[in-house]
Amino acid sequence: MGDVKIGQIRLAKVEEDRGSLCYAEEGTHLPFLVKRIYYIYNVPTESERGAHAHRNLEQVLIAVNGSFDIEIDDGYRKETIHLNEPSVGLYIGKMHWRRLFNFSESAICLVLASLIYEEKDYIRNYYDFAREMHGKN
Ligand code: TYD
Repeated sequence: MGDVKIGQIRLAKVEEDRGSLCYAEEGTHLPFLVKRIYYIYNVPTESERGAHAHRNLEQVLIAVNGSFDIEIDDGYRKETIHLNEPSVGLYIGKMHWRRLFNFSESAICLVLASLIYEEKDYIRNYYDFAREMHGKN
């Protein structure tokens, strides 16, 4: 993945009559070692998640059930990605403001994370994020 800051990740998929299985391994599918996982679910359709950036954290988000939209803002431009396929992940590098919204009923967002949770890694104020991105104090 190198210095690509966001991008689609295709997980390996094993489809059989008895069901489907997806997997991702560090090096082959994931550009970092996973130190933490969490998932977001039971999200009311009108709710939003995220609305923050991370200084050092890298993540892969996967819609393991249902679908949702992710708006990514690198401080210069915004892009919205729709996730709706358990074998596809979105890699998000550090310093991207993200907003998750438009959750379908029963949607589950699985997050693979490169670091243990640390509140200091979060930027929760958009103006602080923009200032850090544009190198102003
Ligand atoms: P937050 O990352 O703000 O949620 P979202 O981006 O989905 O809106 O986390 C919500 C709360 O959960 C916040 O109080 C921090 C806590 N939390 C942990 O304690 N550990 C974790 O690994 C995560 C992701 C969140």
